[in-house]
Amino acid sequence: MGFKGRDVLSILDFNREDLETLFKVADDIKANPFKYSEELKGAVLATAFFEPSTRTRLSFQTAILRLGGSYIDLGEIERSSIAKGENIADTVKMLDSYVDIIVIRHRIEGTAKFAAEIAESPVINAGDGRKHHPTQAMIDLYSIHTFKGGIDGLNVAVMGDLKYGRAATSLILGLTLFKPKALYLISPPELRIRPEVMEYLKQAKVNFIETSKLEDCISELDVLYVTRIQKERFPDPAEYEKVRGSYRITLETLKEAKDDLIILHPLPKVGEIDLKVDKTKHAKYFEQAALGVPVRMALLKLITRG
Ligand code: CP
Repeated sequence: MGFKGRDVLSILDFNREDLETLFKVADDIKANPFKYSEELKGAVLATAFFEPSTRTRLSFQTAILRLGGSYIDLGEIERSSIAKGENIADTVKMLDSYVDIIVIRHRIEGTAKFAAEIAESPVINAGDGRKHHPTQAMIDLYSIHTFKGGIDGLNVAVMGDLKYGRAATSLILGLTLFKPKALYLISPPELRIRPEVMEYLKQAKVNFIETSKLEDCISELDVLYVTRIQKERFPDPAEYEKVRGSYRITLETLKEAKDDLIILHPLPKVGEIDLKVDKTKHAKYFEQAALGVPVRMALLKLITRG
C-alpha cells in the first residue's frame, strides 16, 4: 500500500509490510538523526487538538521541527473561531489552505475521517473518541519490535479499559497484522473489548483469551500493555465508580513475571501502576513515549516524501 500522500485514520489502513518499512525508517532516524534534519524543510504541519494531549501533540510538533519543517497549533479551542460558532468543516478547510499535513484529535468518532474527506492534505488521526489512535499503535508495535526484537511468537497482554480505550483498541487491531503466540485481554467484566473488535479478532484468527485476572497469565507474558480507565468517556459517572481502582500493578503483582517481561503504557498513567514499578527493569513506558518522536518523524517523512 505504501504511505505517500495517504491519510492515517486507522492502524488497519496499513499492512505488515508498511509497518515494517516504518520501523526501518524509525531505526535509521534513531541511528542517524541529523541525516534527516532538512528532510521536510519548508513543510508546515497543523496540530488541531479538540481534546487534551501532552505526548501526541508535542511529539508531532517535535517530529516536524526535527525534520526541518515547522508547525502551527490551533491552540485553546476557546481562543479559536470555533468559540464563535465556526464549524469543523470550515476550520479544516482553512487549515488545509495553510499547511501540508493536518494532525487532528477530537472526542467525536469519525472526525478525522470527516476532515480527510474535506482536506486535500494528508490528515492524521491523533485520536477520535474511543475508536482509533493509529499513531499510538505504531509506537506501541515499534516499541515491542525494539525491546523484544520482533512481535511474532510473543505472549502479549493488553490490560485495562478495553471498552473505551482507543490506544488499547488500536494496538489490539494492530497486533492482528503480526503473529503473536497469544493475546490476553485483561479487563474488569464491564470494560471488555467491544463486540466489533471481538468479531474482527475472530475473523483474523488471533489466539485471544479474555480474563479479568492478571494472575491467570502473568507468568506466561512477554509484554504487558497497561491502560488507564478512560473516565472521560463513561456516559454514566456511576458506571465509572463501579470500576474505579479495580486493578493496579505493584511489585507484588510482578513476583511471578518472567525476568524479561516488558511493561508498556500509552500514558498518561493515573494510579494503575504503582510508582515503585517505574524503577524496575520491566518498566519501558517512558522509553516507549520517547520512541514517539522517531516513529512520527518516520511517518511524516513517508507520507510526504515516500
Ligand atoms: N498516549 C497519548 O495519546 O498521550 P496524550 O494524550 O498525552 O497525547
